[in-house]
Amino acid sequence: MEPFDSTNTGTVRRARAAGFGLLLLAAAAFGPAAYGQNAVRGKMLYGPPVPAGWPITCGSSGCHDGFPTVRKNKIANGTNPTTTINAINKNTGGMGILQGFVTSTDAADIAAYIANPAAANGPSIAVSPASLTFSYTLAGSTSGPMSFTVTNGGAAALNLTSIATSGTNASEFRVGNTSTCAAGGSVSAGGNCRVDVVFAPTSSGAKSAAVTIVHNASGGTTTVALSGSAGAATPTISLSASTLSFATVPLGSTSAAQTVTLSNTGSAALNITALTAGGSNPGDFTRGGTCAAGGTVAAGANCTITYTFAPAALGARSANLTIASNNSGGNVTLTLTGSGVDNTPAVALSRTAIAFGNQQVGTTSAVQTVTVSNAGGGTLSVSGVAANNGAFATTGNCVGASLANGQSCTVNVSFAPTAAATVNGTLSITHNAAGSPASVALSGTGTTAPVPVVALSRAAVSFAGVTAVGQQSIAERLTLTNNGPGSVTLTSVTASPEFNIVAGATSACRAGQTLAQAASCSIDVSFAPAAAGARSGTLSIVSGGSPSTLTANLSGTGSAVAAANAAPNPTAVDFGPVRVGTSAAPRALTIADSGMTNLIVDNIVVDAPFRVVGGGSCGAPPFTLTPGANCTVMVAYQPDAAGMHQGSLQVMSNAPAPAVVTLSGQGQVTAAAVAGPTNVGFGGAGALGGTLLAALGLLAALAGRRRDPN
Ligand code: HEM
Repeated sequence: MEPFDSTNTGTVRRARAAGFGLLLLAAAAFGPAAYGQNAVRGKMLYGPPVPAGWPITCGSSGCHDGFPTVRKNKIANGTNPTTTINAINKNTGGMGILQGFVTSTDAADIAAYIANPAAANGPSIAVSPASLTFSYTLAGSTSGPMSFTVTNGGAAALNLTSIATSGTNASEFRVGNTSTCAAGGSVSAGGNCRVDVVFAPTSSGAKSAAVTIVHNASGGTTTVALSGSAGAATPTISLSASTLSFATVPLGSTSAAQTVTLSNTGSAALNITALTAGGSNPGDFTRGGTCAAGGTVAAGANCTITYTFAPAALGARSANLTIASNNSGGNVTLTLTGSGVDNTPAVALSRTAIAFGNQQVGTTSAVQTVTVSNAGGGTLSVSGVAANNGAFATTGNCVGASLANGQSCTVNVSFAPTAAATVNGTLSITHNAAGSPASVALSGTGTTAPVPVVALSRAAVSFAGVTAVGQQSIAERLTLTNNGPGSVTLTSVTASPEFNIVAGATSACRAGQTLAQAASCSIDVSFAPAAAGARSGTLSIVSGGSPSTLTANLSGTGSAVAAANAAPNPTAVDFGPVRVGTSAAPRALTIADSGMTNLIVDNIVVDAPFRVVGGGSCGAPPFTLTPGANCTVMVAYQPDAAGMHQGSLQVMSNAPAPAVVTLSGQGQVTAAAVAGPTNVGFGGAGALGGTLLAALGLLAALAGRRRDPN
């Protein structure tokens, strides 16, 4: 390591005395790792001769004499570097002349020499960094290598007798064979070598050990502490759907296949031990797909389960499939449902009566519809549609229609009274199934006076978000307006189950209420789901106006279980520029349960070179947060290479999705990092450092010439 010769280090110090602050910054960072406690350098500084740039040396015969063994003028007290610095600062014995020249590193190196002058002729050892902390690693896997550098700042070869892991979890850390330091090898005076270590935990938890190096330098042994945290590798089943619904299938027919994807979202292989059919009608459902009992699904991989449904009997049919495996959550069940229908057609009507209400003679009402569908098997053929009273007219696509199971057609009916009287009639739908013709009762009243026109402000209301079963959404308002002519009386205001008309508003529309022409009233509706999933219904207002029944479609989504929710804050952390090999101050992240049930955090996964460090209030996963509670996690950034680093921290929990915090930082290489311990890739560090220091020396020499009075 030729850059560290006495001439250069001396001139660097002079550069600082002359005010070259920037140069000092670059050079000073070499000091502690390379020189601390270095008796060889201490001897050089002690002198004689005078180190380059110093006005005088301790080794001068007028001061402490050429050999510290003489112990002149209390020099033995210099085994404590602070004593020397204090003596210089207090001008003890005229030592003030050295102020601004002797750094604390110099004093420490001199101290090493004073304490043991013989050490200046032997090897020395310095390791950097003094400890390695590995990123979170799954049990059964091996981390990437982390490295430390062994530097011999001494005057003789440093012999390495052994390099081995020791301590509590010694077997879970390994010294890699890519290391350039070797047991039985040696490091020449001024040279260095690198030790690569990997973390290979066999179980979860916090792990610690050390690398112990036995050598021939002072002390005989040097250790580097190792630590890392390991997580359990577990398989986790995620099904794309927990239920397959086959709706209606005629007896004797087989449905189209439906597929569920089984994904292993865990970190270990999933072994499926058994796929067991159960429930009421397992024989109606036939399984296919790639998932198999005895099969294995690798972490991150998936397999498929397909089913067809062939009902053996009429009515609701069901079964289930129990998937037994080493899934972290235990057995998983897939529910199968379907309905068997007769192979003969059956008519189903959407309504059996249409009341048109009041309609002025000579005018035609708005159309009202009846949906005709085939609720059976086979083919439903509709041969005729007719009303038995000329005041009612029909159109639509049912006449001549052939409907398979589940298909439908529509009959449109309108009312055009010819006299001021109540008219009752029947709509007859002729078909090939039992009970033909199907009939719908028709009624309407002809009036001489015009019928007031009523209107609703909204045709549909969709309740936003998800409402938990058993809870009530906030209300949505609709307005009913009587556009006239004349006043109108409301017969009823009703909503389907699960939708509530909220009483209370003074402007609320009420049954029996009469609205003057141009007057309006309001209807507030809220959503109270009785079950999970999409829910829908209808708001109906029956009045003496036209149309006699006003409707608005209502819809919302119910959630079965009040869910937990992991909410991190902030959701992104940028550490900014950080010198390679150093660690940025850890930042706190808050994890909160913003849901309605307990949040169980079972893992926090961070991408290297970011890592979770101690000091947060969350504790090690798994931990539980109650609704509304929160805790903090400390995240650190220790760039191992130059350039942008982007990663994430993921909170794995029972929340529907992992909470993700985006992490970023910028590793910066400076002169210090070139000499830094983990920059093993810089094979030419000596040459580069040498060039830099030569340049510094040149500048400093110029500065020294200007300043030096001699
Ligand atoms: C970096 C070089 C030097 C080192 C490490 C050093 C170290 C020390 C130490 C440790 C003491 C004892 C202080 C105490 O116990 O409080 C001391 C005292 C003394 N030093 Fe130095 N010294 C250095 C340079 C010099 C020089 C250049 C001179 C000559 C001008 C000098 C002259 C003295 C004298 C005369 C005393 C004794 C003062 C007394 O008896 O109280 N030292 N030095």
